[in-house]
Amino acid sequence: MKVFNHQIIVLALFFSFVTFLAKAAHQEIPRLVQKNTATQLLVDGKPFLMLGGELGNSSAASIDELSVILPKLQKMGLNTILVPAYWELIEKTEGQFDYSLTDEVINQARKYNLKVIFLWFGSWKNSMSCYAPLWIKENTKKYPRAVTKSGKALEMMSAFSAVNMEVDKLTFAGFMSHLAEYDKAYRTVIMVQVENEIGMLEDAREYGPIADERFKADVPARFMEYLNKNKKNLQPSLLQKWEANGTKTKGSWTELFGAGLETDELFMATVYAEYVQNITEAGKAKYNLPMYLNAALNSRGRKPGAYPSAGPLAHLMDVWRFAAPAIDIFAPDIYDPGFTDWCKQYHRGGNPLFIPEIRFEDANAARVFYAFGEHDAMGFSPFSIEDVTDVDNYPLTKSYALLHQLEILLAEKQGLDKTNGVLFDNETRERSIERNGFKFTFKHDNTLGWSAKAKDGSPWPEAGALIIELSPTEYIAAGTGIVLSFESLNKNKMAGIGAIDQIKMENGKMIPLKRLNGDQTHQGRHLRIPVGEWDIQYVKLYEY
Ligand code: DGJ
Repeated sequence: MKVFNHQIIVLALFFSFVTFLAKAAHQEIPRLVQKNTATQLLVDGKPFLMLGGELGNSSAASIDELSVILPKLQKMGLNTILVPAYWELIEKTEGQFDYSLTDEVINQARKYNLKVIFLWFGSWKNSMSCYAPLWIKENTKKYPRAVTKSGKALEMMSAFSAVNMEVDKLTFAGFMSHLAEYDKAYRTVIMVQVENEIGMLEDAREYGPIADERFKADVPARFMEYLNKNKKNLQPSLLQKWEANGTKTKGSWTELFGAGLETDELFMATVYAEYVQNITEAGKAKYNLPMYLNAALNSRGRKPGAYPSAGPLAHLMDVWRFAAPAIDIFAPDIYDPGFTDWCKQYHRGGNPLFIPEIRFEDANAARVFYAFGEHDAMGFSPFSIEDVTDVDNYPLTKSYALLHQLEILLAEKQGLDKTNGVLFDNETRERSIERNGFKFTFKHDNTLGWSAKAKDGSPWPEAGALIIELSPTEYIAAGTGIVLSFESLNKNKMAGIGAIDQIKMENGKMIPLKRLNGDQTHQGRHLRIPVGEWDIQYVKLYEY
C-alpha cells in the first residue's frame, strides 16, 4: 500500500514536471501589436499591463540585496521590474563577458513571478558615460569624448565616433544573444531599454572636427523627404522653424532651420538617434524583443545645453522617429510637475504611453488610474521602488491590487475609446465626460467637504480613477478619492442610478460583493470612493 502511494506521488510529480516543461517551452516572444488606436505588449501571447517599478541604480549590483528586494516587490503586486544591466560589470575586461548578475536577476524574478525589463546602461546613463568599462574610459584616444564649444572634454562618449558605436553595439548584441539563449524557455525578460536618458549637456551639440564638419554639411536628403512627407503631423516647433526659414528642401542645418541652440539640438538629436538605431538593430537581430528609450524631460523652460538636450524629448520626436525607427517606444521619465500634460505629449502620433520612471511619491497611486484609463498606457513604474517600507499600507500597493483585477477587462477595451481616466489635486478638482447621452461629473472627494481634512487648509492628496464602459448604461469605476454623479444630456430627461455594486474582478469576470446604497450613494445621488479608500464599483444607469 505504501509503495503504491509512493508510485502515485512520483507519477504525479513527473506529470506536473512534464506539463511545466511543455508550457515553458512554448512561451511566445514578447511582442507589440496594434489594437485599434492602442499598442499592446503581448507577454506569453496575452496583452500585458506592466504594473512595474524600477530599481535604484545600484540595487541590482548585489545579489544579496536583490533577494531581499524582490519578494517585497512581489508582495506589492508588481508584475514587472525594471533593472539595470551594467556594461562595466558585464565586460570588465575587453572581450570577456560575465552575465552572472544578469542571470541571477532572471532567476530571482522567476522565483517571485516577476517579469524583467533590462535597462542597458551602455554608452550613456543620464548623459554621462559612467557605466562604460574602465578600459574605455581610460582610452580616450581610441574612444573619444564629447567636446564642448570651448574645447572641454566631457565624461561622455562622443556620439560621432564610429568606434564608440561599434564597441557598444558589439556588447549589446552579445547581451541580447545571451538573453535569447538563457531566457528562451520562460521569456522572463519582456522588453529592453537601450541606453538611459541620453542628452548632451553644457552645450546643445558636440563640437570638434567631425561634429563641426557634419554640422556644416547639408541636412541629409532622407530627413528632408521625411519632413516633407509628414509635414501635416510635425511637432509645431520644428515646423515653425522650418517655415520661418523658407521651408527649403536643401541646405545646411542653419540654412534650413536658422542659427541657434534649437538647431544645434535638432542636429545633435539626429546623431544620437542614428547611434541608438545602430545599437538597437544589432540587438534586435540577436533577439527581437520590444525596445524603448527613456527621456529626461525639460520642464523648466531652460535652453538647450542647460538641460540634457537632444534626447527623445517631445519636441524632437520627429527626428527620433525618423532616425531611430527600431525603437518601439519613446518614454517619459516624469520627475517634474504636469503629469497629465506629459502623458498627453508622449501618447501621440502612434507612440504608446509607457512611464518607465516617475518620482517615488504617494500620488502615483492616483496617477496610475489616469494613465491606464485616459491613455491606454502600457505600463507604469515608479523609480527606486524598493524604498517602500510599509508594503501593505503603501498606496500604490492598493492601486496595483485593483489594476491587477482589471487587467483583462482593460486590455480588452484598449484602443476602442471605452475608457477614461481622471486625476485631481488642489487645483484641478472636477472634470466632466460625455458618453452615450450621459454626462459623468467626476470630482475630488474633498469637494464634498465631508471630512475635516477637506476644509482645514491642508493640501488635498491627489485623487484618481478610471471608468470603463461595459454597455451604454453600465460602467465600472475604480480608483481612490473621487465622487461621480450623472446627468442625462437629453434636456427632457433625468439620469438616475439603477444600482451600484461593489465588485471584484476575477479572470475578466465581474463578481458582485455588496450592493451599495443609502449613505454610500448619498441616497442615490452619486458613486463615491472616499479619500484614503480604494474600490471597484459597478454602476447601472437609467433615465426617467
Ligand atoms: C533618472 C534616471 O534615469 C535614473 O537612472 C535615476 O538616475 C533617476 N533619474 C534619479 O532621480
